[in-house]
Amino acid sequence: MFSDRLAQDAARIQAHFDRVLGALDNLDVTQAMAYATKGGKRLRGFLVLESARLHGVETERAIWPATAIEALHAYSLVHDDLPCMDDDDLRRGRPTVHVKWDEGTAVLAGDALQTLAFELCGNAQVGEAAIRSDLTLTLAKASGAQGMVLGQALDIAAETAEAPLTLEQITRLQAGKTGALIEWSACAGAWLAQADPDPLRHYARALGLAFQIADDILDVEGDAEKAGKRLQKDAKAGKATFVSLLGLDAAKARAAELVDQACAALDGYGPAAETLKDAARFVIARDS
Ligand code: IPE
Ligand code: IPE
Ligand code: MG
Ligand code: MG
Ligand code: MG
Repeated sequence: MFSDRLAQDAARIQAHFDRVLGALDNLDVTQAMAYATKGGKRLRGFLVLESARLHGVETERAIWPATAIEALHAYSLVHDDLPCMDDDDLRRGRPTVHVKWDEGTAVLAGDALQTLAFELCGNAQVGEAAIRSDLTLTLAKASGAQGMVLGQALDIAAETAEAPLTLEQITRLQAGKTGALIEWSACAGAWLAQADPDPLRHYARALGLAFQIADDILDVEGDAEKAGKRLQKDAKAGKATFVSLLGLDAAKARAAELVDQACAALDGYGPAAETLKDAARFVIARDS
């Protein structure tokens, strides 16, 4: 089953985090980093490991960028939950970092998780210098003002916008806040093998959008216990989502179309890509 495969990779990534973070001095900030990286589905890390397997790259090499993207993602969540952003007190079924410690520790743990991600991409075990440099540069671009940060900025700005965002504007927002890191994750296996990332890029663009639509649907009709975070918050906060624009039914139909598109993009790989196709189907069927 796909969920077993995902859990297996999640355990590999957790073991790698334990090794890397266990080597740091024991301070509030490092404890907060370890806390923030625990739990979660590890979908982005899985995409790195699975796209690497698709290209015959050893997991011992791919585990570094897989852990890197989960560190980067954990940073984005710690900051997303801050009072100045989405102001959430629950994440992955536990108090958020600024609630468990304080805002200063949450800002710093996020900062350090971000820089840790680049350190992990630069590790000698990843492969030759050109590969490490590719992974680092592309991760910087995916995370910053042309990627995740851009999407988060548009998301926050939309809360107080005069008019509702158009479909085109919401697509751009979501391609940044969620899509960019998912795209990087799926392309990473091709970069590790110095192969063409284009089919994986097409897969991930559709997958990332479907993933965020599913997150927005979960906010409306999910079970908070299973999701491990507060729900029914987006509409109150004035968030611009596919659900706010299209309504639930059309958003679900759009997500299903995107999953078909994602799967079709992998047809050229044959049966070897079946697990990545399962991942796409999982993304819209999940309850957390
Ligand atoms: C939540 O991401 C934030 C979004 C980008 C929608 P995930 O749903 O992947 O969260 P975890 O890592 O499994 O907790
Ligand atoms: C978070 O999106 C995206 C990033 C952290 C980059 P959301 O704000 O929708 O995620 P949740 O719903 O809090 O998990
Ligand atoms: Mg947010
Ligand atoms: Mg949020
Ligand atoms: Mg959300």
